[in-house]
This record gives sequence, structure tokens and C-alpha cells, in this order.
Amino acid sequence: MNEVALYLPSIADGEDKTSSFKNRLRKNYRHIRKWAKRTTTDCFRIYDREIRHYPLAIDFYAGRFCVHYFSRTREAPEPSAELKEEVEQALRSLFGVTPALIYWRTRVRRQKMEQYEKKESSKEYFIGHEYGVKFKINLRDYLDTGLFLDHRETRQIVAAACPGKRVLNLFAYTCAFSVHAARAGATFTKSVDMSNTYTAWGADNFELNALPLKKNPIIREDCLKFLNQESRTGTKYDIIIIDPPTISRSKKMLEMFDIQIDYVDLLSKAIKLLCKKGIIFFSTNSRTFVFDKSLFSTCSIIDISTKTLPLDFHDPKIHRCWKITPLSS
Ligand SMILES: C[S@@+](CC[C@H](N)C(=O)[O-])C[C@H]1O[C@@H](n2cnc3c(N)ncnc32)[C@H](O)[C@@H]1O
Repeated sequence: MNEVALYLPSIADGEDKTSSFKNRLRKNYRHIRKWAKRTTTDCFRIYDREIRHYPLAIDFYAGRFCVHYFSRTREAPEPSAELKEEVEQALRSLFGVTPALIYWRTRVRRQKMEQYEKKESSKEYFIGHEYGVKFKINLRDYLDTGLFLDHRETRQIVAAACPGKRVLNLFAYTCAFSVHAARAGATFTKSVDMSNTYTAWGADNFELNALPLKKNPIIREDCLKFLNQESRTGTKYDIIIIDPPTISRSKKMLEMFDIQIDYVDLLSKAIKLLCKKGIIFFSTNSRTFVFDKSLFSTCSIIDISTKTLPLDFHDPKIHRCWKITPLSS
């Protein structure tokens, strides 16, 4: 772990009589920095909508800042010039950063059919660390950054179950769950995602951590199609991770994916791929999702959402997560 070059600058203590927002940032960062050093992590949230007049979440990624602005209306999606100036001034004065290292994102409620489209093509990648594992991050080009911070503890919980196991990661995105699983000692991981961009990004993440792709293949495919194909081959897994988007639509898919409609098919097919004593970790960010457990009466389904909430996230509904184990196994 010695070679890990974490970027966690120290910042001075001292109250600012004029800005409660800046004081909060200082307090939060100084608090989480201790934990971050201990766990070899330099990607975390330093502000999570704690003060009403600052409807923001600020994520620290190894010295860069991703500022999410949560507009209450679609009509006024951008933050005011005053708010932008105050935030940038606070980050400048605490961390000495230039505006070039502050990346603003506007989060109006996503329309049902909105996709993960590309924003820019800067190819501005850098490395961040999470529990000693390296990830390639890009704060400019995509709607998301390469690493979903809210699932940091979920990745730890899943990784703890993986030593000596065969792992399947569906809707793998940049393979963060699989890379942690492989680092924790999984004998084999397979990651499936239908995006060329994210499967290539996932391969880079394995390479960054010196993990061979031969033992950790990445498949570009629609997950529902993949499950049908895989069941015909008789391949089995000890751990299956399923963290799908709420809605997704693509030319590569036969039909639109909607978690509320498709979860029954998805989970039923995944259960059939489990080895004896196998486990599915299933998660969703959908706030309206209803899990009808009676449809899976042959399984134990435990809600582990509370355990998966990181210390830097304050919204208990940021995601929900279940551990599913067939009772017969
Ligand atoms: C919410 S992200 C998944 C986050 C990921 N599990 C993680 O922890 O980093 C959604 C991902 O699902 C992929 N995706 C969406 N619909 C899909 C489908 N039908 N089959 C395969 N991948 C899909 C997208 O390309 C995207 O990478």
C-alpha cells in the first residue's frame, strides 16, 4: 500500500465570521480527512446539502471538486452568479484551488427518458483512490465521474464476501465493484455493461490495479440478453452484483429497461445462475421503487441499505440495497 500517492492537503483551522458555508466545508473536510488517510481514500463528499440556502453537494476527487447544484426548477437550472462566486471563493481560500479544478454540475430532476449522454471530449482523466484501490476519474466529459461515491461502503461489503469466489457484476459501468472484488481475492470476475466507453474504462481500472483481464473479463452486452445466453452455458457464480439504472434505453437494446418493470425478470434470471450458498447484492437509486418480496418467496431478502450509507452522505434514500439468498441453497 506504500506506493499509493494520496492527495489530501491539510487545511488550517480557524472560524470565518462571515461565512457559515465555508466553516461547514472546513469542518467536514478536516473531519473526513482523518478517516480518508486511515483508509487510503481521496474521493469523498465534503458537503451534502446541509445548509438550506446552499442546495449543493460537493465531492472531493483527489484535489479536484465536483459541485452539484440541485435546482428546484427546470426553468432556473443554473446557480446564481453570487452563489457560484461564494462557493469558488470558499474552495479557493480553503484549498488554494483555481476555478479550473472546480467542475460544476447542474442536477435538475432527470426526465424519464434522459440518457447518460456525453457532455464534452476533454479526455481529462486522473487517478483517485478508494480503500487503496485506484480508479480513473473524469469530471468533465460525462454526466457521471467514473466512480459513484455513494456505493463506497457497498463495495466494501460486497468485497468482504468475495475471497475465493466467482463474481458476476451486471450493469458494471466502470467495473468499480469488480475491481474491488478482484482486489479482495475473488478467483474470477465477469463484468457486463452495454456501453463501449464504460467497458473500456473498466478495463483501464483493472489495468491500473495490476489485475489481469484474463481472470476478469468484461463483456459488452445488454444484461438481460447476457443472462439468457449465460443460462444456456451452465456457468454459475457465487456472488452476483446488480446495480442497474432506473431507466435506460439504447439502440443496442431490444426494449427500454425500467427497473420497476424489469427487476422481477432480472432477479429471477440471476438467481438461476447462482451456485449453492450464492448471494445477490441488488441495489437501486430509484426513490419510488417498490420491492414485492412475495414474488421471491424461496429467497431470504435482507435490506442492508443502512449499512451501505457512507459517513459523508446524509440522505438515507440516496440508494437502497438488498442481500438476496435462495433459501434452498
Ligand atoms: C447506474 S450505472 C451502474 C453503476 C455501477 N453498478 C457502479 O457501481 O459503478 C448504469 C450502467 O448500466 C449500463 N446499462 C444500462 N442499461 C443496460 C443494459 N440493459 N444492459 C447492460 N448495461 C446497461 C450503463 O451503460 C451504465 O454503465
